[in-house]
Parts: sequence; C-alpha cells; structure tokens
Amino acid sequence: VALPSAPPALYPSWYSPAPKDLLPKYKFPKGFKFGVATAAYQVEGAVRDEGKGPTMWDWNSRQPGGVTDNTTGDVVDLHYFLYKEDVARIAALGVNAHSFSISWARIFPFGTADSPVNQAGLDHYSDLINYHSKLGVEPVATLFHWDVPLALQAYYGGFTSPNIVDDFVHYAKTVFRAYNGRVKTWYTFNEPRVYCGQLKGYPFNVNFAPGVNATSAPFHCAYNLLKAHAGAVKAFREMKIQGEISFKNDDYVGLAWRANNTEDAEAVERHAAFQIGIFSDPVYKGDWPQRMKDTLTPDVLPRFTEAEKKDILGSADFYAIDPYRTQYITAPSGGIKACVSDPSHELWPSCNTPVQYDSNAGWAAGWTPDPLMDWLQATPNFLVDSLKELKRRWPYKKIYVSEFGFAEPTEGSRTDLFRITEDFERTNYFMTYLGEILRGIHEENLPIAGAFAWAMVDNTEWSSGTSARFGIQYVNYTSLERHYKRSALALSEFWKAHN
Ligand code: NOJ
Repeated sequence: VALPSAPPALYPSWYSPAPKDLLPKYKFPKGFKFGVATAAYQVEGAVRDEGKGPTMWDWNSRQPGGVTDNTTGDVVDLHYFLYKEDVARIAALGVNAHSFSISWARIFPFGTADSPVNQAGLDHYSDLINYHSKLGVEPVATLFHWDVPLALQAYYGGFTSPNIVDDFVHYAKTVFRAYNGRVKTWYTFNEPRVYCGQLKGYPFNVNFAPGVNATSAPFHCAYNLLKAHAGAVKAFREMKIQGEISFKNDDYVGLAWRANNTEDAEAVERHAAFQIGIFSDPVYKGDWPQRMKDTLTPDVLPRFTEAEKKDILGSADFYAIDPYRTQYITAPSGGIKACVSDPSHELWPSCNTPVQYDSNAGWAAGWTPDPLMDWLQATPNFLVDSLKELKRRWPYKKIYVSEFGFAEPTEGSRTDLFRITEDFERTNYFMTYLGEILRGIHEENLPIAGAFAWAMVDNTEWSSGTSARFGIQYVNYTSLERHYKRSALALSEFWKAHN
C-alpha cells in the first residue's frame, strides 16, 4: 500500500502561535493547580547522604551504556540540600503547586517492609513539605518515580516479583502516616508503562524474578505494580488519609496515519490498549484490555484473580496523564520503515515517521536513535482532542495534566547564558499548550483540575543524562546556580493573567 509522504494536515506545526484570542476571555477555574514538576532521582543528588540506600538508577547510571553522557544522579541539581532555594524560586514565580517524588530508598534504604525506616529521610520530606506550605506552594507527592531500591532488585528482581507488593504497600503506609493532612494530592506510580517497559533492554534489569524473562518482565511488572498500587490505595482509604490518590499515565492514544483505513484504525486501537489501556483498563474497567489478553499468553501476561480485579477496579480518585505530544500510527502492512530497529516496538513508538505498529511482541527493545527528535512532535493543538479521546475511553470526572514539557532541540549545545535562557520554542510550546487547556475547560467542558510543567529545573533525563534539558530554569551544573528561562517568566505571567 502506498502511503502519503507526509502525515495528514490535521494540526498546525508544533510551533504554531498561541491562540491569542482566547487568552483574555478565559480564567482557570477556582482551585486549579498550576504547577511545576520534578522527580527525586532527576534533581536531588545527595545519593549517599542522610542514610539513603542505592537505587536501581544509581546502579544503572554507572553501567557502560546505561546513560548516554554518563551522568549519574550523584549531584545533578543538589535539590536535596538546595530545596529551600528551589521552593522559594517556585513561589517567586507565583505558581501554586509543585509535584515531586519521594525516594523510597531514602525512607527504606533496604527496601523491605521488615527493614529499618530511615528517620532522616522521613524528616527531610517533612521539612520539604512544610517549606512548600510555608511559601504557599502546594506539595503534590509521587511515591514511586522509577527509583526502586537496589536492594529489592537484587533480593528478588524488583517489580518482576510479587514480593514487591507488600514492601511497596508498607512504604506507602509509612509515608501516608507521616505526611497525612500535609499533602492532599498523591500519586502512587509515575508512568508505569514507561517504567515497566524499561525492564527490557536496559543493562540494569538483568535480575528478574524466577520464571520471568526479558519478554515477560514488563508484563509481570505491570501485574505486580497494579497490585501494589491497589494495595496502597486500599490502605490510603482504610487509614482515612485526607485527600485524593491516583497514578500518572503517560503520553497519547495516537492518530491513524491514513484516514478511513481499517488497518491503521486497528493499529491505533492496539496501541491504545498496550500503551494506556494496560493500566487504565484494570483501574477503570476491572481487567486487562481484551487485545492484550488475545495477544499474550498467561505466562507472559499474568491474569488477575477475581479478588485482584475487585481491588484494582476503582483504585483512582482522578485521572492523570502526562500528555506531552501525540504520534501518528500505521499498521505494519503500511510499508513505512519504522524508525526503531525492532519492528515489534509495541510500547516505545517514536520518531518522525509514523509508528509502524506490529502488535505481536510487547515492549520495544530499545530507545529511539535521537531522543530529542521525539519531542518535536509535540503539537500542542493536539491536546484537547487527546483529552477528549481519553475521556471517551476512560470516562473521568477530573483530570490532571500531570506533566507537560519540551526539550528544546538545540539548547544543550548552546553555550552563552543569554541564548540558553531565551528558550522561545519552549515558551511557544507552553503558551500554546496552556491556551489549549483553557479552551478544553471552557469550550469542551473538560474537567481539567491542574497542569504541571516539566520541569522545575534542568535535570538528568534518565538514559539521556543532562544532554536533554527540559527545565524552565537553566542550571549551571558546576556552580549549581539556577537561572530562570524565558519560559518560566511566561508561565508565571500566563498564570497571573488567567487566574
Ligand atoms: C515523564 C517522566 O515522568 C519524567 O521523568 C521525564 O523526565 C519526562 N517525561 C520527560 O521525558
């Protein structure tokens, strides 16, 4: 089948101007969380301080090939010690929330429920939370943003083992008890699809639980992680912790490359099932997506018992997703050469050609060749359609855009501060994106209750290290000085103008 050489012109280019005419009209609803986001491993540094145990990422970042530019999490922004400055800089922007993660290995250095709790770690996040409240910035906490205690990976294979469930629930309870009433919005897991997908093809995931291999590891992870999530939410409710709890989905449902083409339509469905349905279906509908069960045998994708289904169903008080971008999707018969080497990259579709979507295997084997190219496909105008599409599939009553952001393509190679902080492309992305959020709320009746810009500061972008910069503040990694970029000031002004 001959495919068109360019995607259908559904959207203006990614740097289309902000919908200015909307700006004066619309206000954010009362109580809207207008925030910035970070994650412990990516900003904290201080990995050996105050009793923290090592995490899988501390290990991974030391393996050859683990991180392209060999950045470790050892120092990065040193947010662990500089948090007062960081919270003050957030407050100075006038935004009202910060979504951060708690490092499990700071609370339980050895990970397990029967190992000692590290009081210094508990105290640290207590101080951090209090400092937010003191400066009028609402703390929003994630329990797990990919930094599993290394001990748990070593003892039993981390999330590939059912043992993780009790250990995670114990950690969750400890944290709920410690910060009850001071944090009102909680996420158990950040982007579990991405996390579990990483369990294939990364140097650090060699240690699987018995009976689990590279093919089944992501799915065993998904299974155990959902049980851990449900267990934590159950505890949250039984303990009558104040506030709300959910988890963060990632990315997009996707768009058919060829209009009115049944094969591409089916590719989109399969992509949606494996990409988002894998976690949203169990939580909102009570089981894995049918397409996953039809494709994967129970040794690869463990089936839920009736009791497990019951626990998982409804274990979310709101929907949350990180809708950075969207992507065109085509069936393998489309004949377009996919841009990753593995043709069965079920869950890591990326790059500037449509995803050639072969659904048989599972997660992608690797990363895309150019991680930055990925973000160029962020077409802000896609947002409203994406959120509507999500609502059609998983009818939510409240949604947080739990992350959105943009790695400006050439920023990493710029050398003078002025050019770095003049991040006009990111600024444009944010303005257009926020305009879309307002349009979604006011014209499409979407219950968007908050939006969090990734990231509060430049940080280490996992396997890409510090070469990818997502921050609204530049960080000089030698002096650790922070500088607001234009995008930070634009966010601040946008919020003031529409609040
Ligand atoms: C989402 C992830 O949660 C975050 O850790 C990552 O840095 C951003 N996406 C950008 O890739």
